Amino acid sequence: MTAQLIDGVALSRRLREALRVRVSTLSARHTQPGLAVILVGDNPASQVYVRNKVKACEEVGIRSVLETHPASLTEAALLQRIAAFNADPAIHGILVQLPLPPHIDAQRVIEAIAPEKDVDGFHVANAGALMVGRPGFQPCTPYGCMKMLEHIGYPLRGKHAVVIGRSNIVGKPMAMLLLQANATVTICHSATTDLAHHTRQADVIVAAVGRRALVTADMVKPGAVVIDVGMNRDDTGKLCGDVDFEGVRQVAGWITPVPGGVGPMTITMLLTNTVEAAERAGATPAR
Ligand code: GUN
Repeated sequence: MTAQLIDGVALSRRLREALRVRVSTLSARHTQPGLAVILVGDNPASQVYVRNKVKACEEVGIRSVLETHPASLTEAALLQRIAAFNADPAIHGILVQLPLPPHIDAQRVIEAIAPEKDVDGFHVANAGALMVGRPGFQPCTPYGCMKMLEHIGYPLRGKHAVVIGRSNIVGKPMAMLLLQANATVTICHSATTDLAHHTRQADVIVAAVGRRALVTADMVKPGAVVIDVGMNRDDTGKLCGDVDFEGVRQVAGWITPVPGGVGPMTITMLLTNTVEAAERAGATPAR
């Protein structure tokens, strides 16, 4: 068997076209969605991510404001910038690129963002909303993974999903979303004994650890859906995920590639959350 590819680039293109229409509707009501992106320090990967996010905003008509600060920026100064964006009615979404330098408490910074502008979905208010099934913002990567499963029409009800990784950004919210879709969910992590025992029983595997070739063909049940959230480099410097793509595609039913899978979908869901934030702000009477 050779797995069918879930193409994150093609799906993103379709979803972004629909977003452009929503942006036009907002513009007709004199609201252009605005996203503030804050980058602290000179992490090269973060610089690339931020550049891609800003470019994607332009593509759909979202106004983006990119602020870059040296790694020496104090936490107090960063909190001040967030307070300014919280108070700015032209800004509907605020994103602070992670990781932050070690002298800054990332969670304190995230909690300073107004929950209605937290388009990353990292604020405890949004994490809590996801936990109890209330409306909020869903973190972009898990949200994008769910969109991919929806796109292939995969019926999650009663299926066994195994999430590898328990980060606040991907693993935990991913598990919550799968649970909400009525899957039976197992979360595996660095202390899990016999990872393969769990993955071999999975109808859906989401790999979000950051270790290349973590998931190999012998760990996958024939026909399973394999979603690769990993973003690593191989020995030649080429981008690769957590899944041994060439091996696993011989066994799986569906597979996401790296690059061109979850990555573009994460950005697409950031755009979606930003447009949604602008729509919600427009629906709220001015105070
Ligand atoms: N760093 C890695 N992924 C993300 C993300 O989705 N959002 C932010 N803000 N930082 C990240």
